[in-house]
Amino acid sequence: MSETAKIELGGKTIELPVIEGTENEKAIDISAFRGMSGGYITIDPGFKNTGSCTSAITFLDGEEGILRYRGYSIEQLAEKSNFLEVSYLVIFGELPTAAELQKFENSIRKYTLVNEEMKGIIDGFPRTAHPMGVLSSLTSALTAFNPKAVNVNSDEEMYEAICKTMAKFLVIATWTYRKKMGFPLNYYDNTKGYVENFLQLMFSLPTETYKANPVVIDALDKLFILHADHEQNCSTSTVRMVGSSHAGLFASISAGVSALWGPLHGGANQAVLEMLEAIQNDGGDVAKYVAKAKDKDDPFRLMGFGHRVYKNFDPRARIIKKAADDVLSSLGINDPILNIAKQLEQVALEDEYFKSKNLYPNVDFYSGIIYRALGIPVDMFTVMFAIGRLPGWIAQWKEMRANNEPIGRPRQIYTGAPERTYVEVSNR
Ligand code: CMC
Repeated sequence: MSETAKIELGGKTIELPVIEGTENEKAIDISAFRGMSGGYITIDPGFKNTGSCTSAITFLDGEEGILRYRGYSIEQLAEKSNFLEVSYLVIFGELPTAAELQKFENSIRKYTLVNEEMKGIIDGFPRTAHPMGVLSSLTSALTAFNPKAVNVNSDEEMYEAICKTMAKFLVIATWTYRKKMGFPLNYYDNTKGYVENFLQLMFSLPTETYKANPVVIDALDKLFILHADHEQNCSTSTVRMVGSSHAGLFASISAGVSALWGPLHGGANQAVLEMLEAIQNDGGDVAKYVAKAKDKDDPFRLMGFGHRVYKNFDPRARIIKKAADDVLSSLGINDPILNIAKQLEQVALEDEYFKSKNLYPNVDFYSGIIYRALGIPVDMFTVMFAIGRLPGWIAQWKEMRANNEPIGRPRQIYTGAPERTYVEVSNR
């Protein structure tokens, strides 16, 4: 007999089914609760204890610090795989064969040319615009150039749409930076790999030959893998929510980019660097900022610390910390900001406030440091996160449509004014 949960309410016992995932995660299925209870709903602001779906893409155990895509540990994937292979795995569910991987890479190449008219749209933005705002708008604008809705029941159409998204998103992501810098917009080079192309699209100038550093390519490949999916986080939930109204892939991903931009989510990597710079400019007194973060009357938080689900350590942060050390030593970088980061990490890890609240450095604490070492400008940090997260957004959108999930439409408890009668403006 399968497990159930019983709720006593208004003299009645309501029995609800319990569902169990492959890793023994359990949930009380409340989908029929409102009808059974005569109008009660459950409430959980921020979804701290609420699952919005079942999903076969990513497993995350915040207590144990486990993160797996489709069953494969993030540690193994970061060590042995590459970003496009991981993207295929996340999106299609299995590691590709050599032929499948080659087909995927070539199919992405088919779509790397972005419509020239997109350049006109970019020109409409001021150079001061934040790249994330531009990226969200450009992603949405892609809909105008690809107006035909994808038939989600056709594997072939879905495959082409996925490859198109992987190709065009990377190019426009780098264009947001080129625009800001006043540089000509570059084209993808189909003779090179995806991550190498990212660097070339970003940094190559018509006046000189560009050669990407293999150490940098490797480090970025790893960073993108670590960001590829993270189950039902804020931006992914946004992508699923928007897509649940049967809005298209580009429109849904554009909304995901906006959600990721916030400093409590992907925007934290930029916020970390800005915080470290502020500490440095203020004389480098790390203890002062730790005290500020602990002060209840001060809104300041240590950016790059804490996580909604990881309460012991962030497994991505462990891998990235090591990668950061390797890259910095192999590039011979000695950056004073890094000393501040190290001190901050040490002080916070030993501080009772941070220990008691389980606040540890998260992926964004180290990703900002490594991006800076790789020469990525600070306001592109969150765009880097978006490029890495793209396969996750695509996979979650695809899964949501394949599972035929209903439109996302939460309920609420109304706490506003009771009914009142309209008063003419002359009488107010
Ligand atoms: N510095 C100081 N205090 C903190 C911090 C921090 N970074 N994070 C949480 N706290 C305190 C918070 O004040 C609260 O204290 P109290 O219980 O006394 O009210 C307690 O810890 C719990 O915090 P919360 O805000 O209720 O926790 P949450 O799960 O809602 O928020 C978080 C998680 C990531 C938004 C939050 O830890 C935070 O704002 N961190 C800084 C921003 C950051 O680094 N974000 C990147 C997350 S990782 C990348 C990603 O996946 O998006």
